Order: sequence, then C-alpha cells, then structure tokens
Amino acid sequence: MATSSAQHIPVIAIDGPSGAGKGTASMLVARRLGFHLLDSGAMYRVAALHILRSGLKDQPIERIVEAVTSMRARFDTSGDDGVRVLLDQDDVTLELRTEETGGMASEIASEPAIRSALLTTQHTMRQLPGLVADGRDMGTAVFPDAILKVFLTASAEERAARRQRQLNQQGKQVTLESLLQDIQARDSRDTNRTVSPLKPAADALIIDSTGVSINNVVDHILSVWHERR
Ligand code: C5P
Repeated sequence: MATSSAQHIPVIAIDGPSGAGKGTASMLVARRLGFHLLDSGAMYRVAALHILRSGLKDQPIERIVEAVTSMRARFDTSGDDGVRVLLDQDDVTLELRTEETGGMASEIASEPAIRSALLTTQHTMRQLPGLVADGRDMGTAVFPDAILKVFLTASAEERAARRQRQLNQQGKQVTLESLLQDIQARDSRDTNRTVSPLKPAADALIIDSTGVSINNVVDHILSVWHERR
C-alpha cells in the first residue's frame, strides 16, 4: 500500500488490455499535467527480459523472484518518446517491445511473488506533483486511492491492426491473424489470472477507443480530471 505520507499525491490510473492506446494516452496526459509517468508494463517486460537473458526461464520461482528483485533496471522518463529503459546500463527500450518479451512478461505477471516484488518500486514512483500510472491493476491493486481511474479498451481486431501498423513501420511483416491470436491469448491470461486480474475498478471511467483518435481520448481524460480535482 502507499505510505500515508504519499496519499496526498494525486494519481491518475490508466488500465486496460494490450494495444488499447494506454501507453500513448498516459504519456500525453502526464506531459500535459507535468506529472510523472509509471509504465508498469515496462517493469514486467524488463523483468521478463532479464529472466530470458539470464537463462532463468525454467528455474524455480524463488530463483526467478530473487533475480527480479536484484536486477539493475532504470526507467528514464525525461525524454519526449515515452519511457527509456536501461538494464545493466544497456538501453533495452526497443528489445522490450518484442512479442517474445511481451509473452514472457504476461507469463511471469501471473506469479504473485513477482507482482509483490515489483509493487514497492511502483509505490516509490508516486511523487509530487502527481503520477500517471499505466498498467493492468493500477486502479484496482496498486493505487486503489487514485483520484481518477480510467479503463481504456478497444476491440481486439482494432488493437491487432494498430500493432500491425507499428510493426510495419519498423519494417517487420506479421500477419493480422497471428497478432490477433497473441492479443487474445494475452487478454485471456491477464483477465483470468487469480492475482490482480485485468478488470475495470468499480469506480473506473470506461473509455472505448475503437475508432476514436488518441487526442480525443486524452481530451476526454483531461476534462474529467479537471472536473474532479
Ligand atoms: O502493457 P504491456 O503490454 O507492456 O505489459 C506487458 C505485460 O505485463 C502484460 O501482458 C501483462 O501481463 C503484464 N502487466 C501486468 N500488470 C501491469 C502491467 C503489465 O500484469 N500493471
């Protein structure tokens, strides 16, 4: 739980499934308000990459948790392009986005011991003047006292199409069908796990971004934020 001294620091929690536009929306909202940004998915991804790189994938969970707890990862949010991530001084920002790392992140995310290992770091990112926290359980488990909780979603087909456009821009060709299957598998794992499953908080504002521009999503979030504070 957040320490009582941090509870006066405002948090906007933006949760939702992969590809709903949370990353971009969170970055733009944080920038407009001058808030800090927590990309919790990047934390799960860097932990996954560390496990893959260290060859620990098939080791007992205690060994994996120990490695995640002691990994040397740094999240630099000072640039204009979202969060830059360093693992052992190595810039791994692009490598974090591969399907392999994302798949492994989603697997380890269902382990309660991994989730609690990352919780303390997530809480320490609650700093003045405020925090925009992007993830799956920001409003339900990590910052249940967030002033504004958004659940941003979009149809699986639209999310797969967006991912395909991103990959095409990087010169990678992947079929829509395989991306859709990946997204559905990840949704199902994230939604059905017993610990911190992906679901809207009871008091979340639900925004469906299917067919809606990211700027409209950001304006919607900011208008509700200004009404509430
Ligand atoms: O958001 P992103 O796709 O980068 O997250 C990678 C994986 O990390 C997700 O598929 C999800 O399983 C996991 N995750 C999570 N809780 C969070 C953020 C991400 O379980 N708060």
